[in-house]
Amino acid sequence: MCGIIGYIGSERVVPILMEGLSRLEYRGYDSAGIATLQDGELFRLRQVGKVRDLACALQDDDSDATIGIGHTRWATHGAPTRENAHPHLDCSGDIALIHNGIIENYLVLRDELLEAGHTFRSQTDTEVLAHLIEHYFDGDLLAAVTAAVRRAEGAFALAVLCSRTPDRLVAARRGSPLVVGHSSTGHFIASDIPALLGKANSVVFLADDELAELTRDTVRFIDCDGVELHPPSHRVSADQVSIQKGGYRHFMLKEIHEQDRSIGETVREKMCHEGEDVTQSPFFSVCKRIAPFNHIYLIACGTAYHASLTAEYMWERILNMPIQSMIASEFRMRAAHLSEKSLVIAVSQSGETIDTLMALRRAKSAGAQVIALVNNEQSTIDREADVSVYTHAGIEIGVAATKTFTAQIAALGLLGLHLGLDHLSQADIQAEFGRLALLPGRINESLQKEDDIRTIAEGLHHARDVLFLARGELYPIALEGALKLKEISYIHAEGYPAGEMKHGPIALIDEKTPVVFLLSRGIAFEKVLSNMEEVRARNGQIIAVTDAPDDPAVKRLANAIIPVPNVEGISRPILFTIPLQLLAYHAAVWRGTDVDQPRNLAKTVTVE
Ligand code: AGP
Repeated sequence: MCGIIGYIGSERVVPILMEGLSRLEYRGYDSAGIATLQDGELFRLRQVGKVRDLACALQDDDSDATIGIGHTRWATHGAPTRENAHPHLDCSGDIALIHNGIIENYLVLRDELLEAGHTFRSQTDTEVLAHLIEHYFDGDLLAAVTAAVRRAEGAFALAVLCSRTPDRLVAARRGSPLVVGHSSTGHFIASDIPALLGKANSVVFLADDELAELTRDTVRFIDCDGVELHPPSHRVSADQVSIQKGGYRHFMLKEIHEQDRSIGETVREKMCHEGEDVTQSPFFSVCKRIAPFNHIYLIACGTAYHASLTAEYMWERILNMPIQSMIASEFRMRAAHLSEKSLVIAVSQSGETIDTLMALRRAKSAGAQVIALVNNEQSTIDREADVSVYTHAGIEIGVAATKTFTAQIAALGLLGLHLGLDHLSQADIQAEFGRLALLPGRINESLQKEDDIRTIAEGLHHARDVLFLARGELYPIALEGALKLKEISYIHAEGYPAGEMKHGPIALIDEKTPVVFLLSRGIAFEKVLSNMEEVRARNGQIIAVTDAPDDPAVKRLANAIIPVPNVEGISRPILFTIPLQLLAYHAAVWRGTDVDQPRNLAKTVTVE
């Protein structure tokens, strides 16, 4: 998704904008641009390609401008060209605007503005906003932006400069995230906190239909009706270190290796100590806030959906009621039976995925209770849910979710235990807590296998198609392994229930099709071995990820074996995930793709 950054203060703005844009690259983009104001003159520069290309074009810049805006564009309307790159200008060239989101009624507005004599230079929906603000501008930029956003339908996080009011920057938000930052030298706006780390000391999260007017010394907040607001400010806690690569080649590899700590952080506050009654755990108080319910929906997208599906398998063993995990964009289309007896779990690491947010709003409008499981506190999904549970995985920069996924499984596993306390013995719960306490060490054990996995990945990276097969609660992990491989290496991969293979996918099997089997002694072991026989009989190349690496049949059937610690419960799907993340990572490195910012992808999808 697009990234936006803006600053007004006493420091030179160009270095701030460029550093902010480089911190937003992980959101996914294909062009970038900035606009600054100095001595009443508006300067704009846009570049197709990477932020470094824009930086090259600015290498001789020595402007002393101290107010400006910057943008990384993920193309929605109009190809990734310089003309479609942001910032966009009005007819006069005095107003510059950047935008993340989609203006759904832009064609109607564009016709109206063309009728009024405006001329357009791009195919974007965004440019309409610049001309609409020009249409309403009568010297008060905040009033003009307010009037314009009241006409706009759809989602926006936007920032506007005007050379005729050179001492202020205006921002507005609906549906796409926007934070307003403060430091001793001035004020910022940005799509999210990583762009402001090391810069802003505190941030305010704009809510939908709120606007902010920033000057060098003040920030004013209003809603779309012009009512003054005083939103709370939050200290920026993450430090510079948390967003540096820490010596790893890619953020994704760093985040894969952080999973012992991120899991530890996530489970720590959700487990009581040995001998303590579980009902004394702070986490239990979260669950007590949920009124009685008789069925559960889990809603999410992408990797978060795979975590939700894993939870569905784990919870149905504990909770005696219908539990269904649904892709959020489909949930909105389905005749889901929602009532005040429904419990909906919205799973989203960013807390800003628009499909999940819209599904949450549908659930709430039908009277359901909503628990949000997010990594990003104060995100929109966090704020709109009835109750929130947090994964404390830390900021995840790599577009491909890794540590946030395993943290989601751990948090969902513990949430299920606490929701199903009545059906569990204290011994069962303590046993689970004991396994989770050992999980960080077991994750490290799996990470030690990286060199072997890198070698196996070398054999994968020429493949055209790869199948990931598993049964039971490892099936969602097969889906996640396939997603990881395809989204960062661009190799087509599919996850499938192993038992389903003979109903179609077996037609794909030949000596050129690697098949990754997830095989656990605790889950239909013999049946998956039979599936491996079927693949072997057709010269399929088998990679077995298994907690039974020494089993004779496994040794006979697999071309390569990746051992996993033999453990049951919440830890098992997490430990099976680690090798798949490394497999995908190294296959992508062998292929030379942009691992942290894969083509066409965005870290947070804020358009429907
Ligand atoms: C993860 O590897 C993908 N990049 C993507 O599917 C992601 O999981 C999905 O967009 C959901 O994001 P969220 O968890 O922030 O809602």
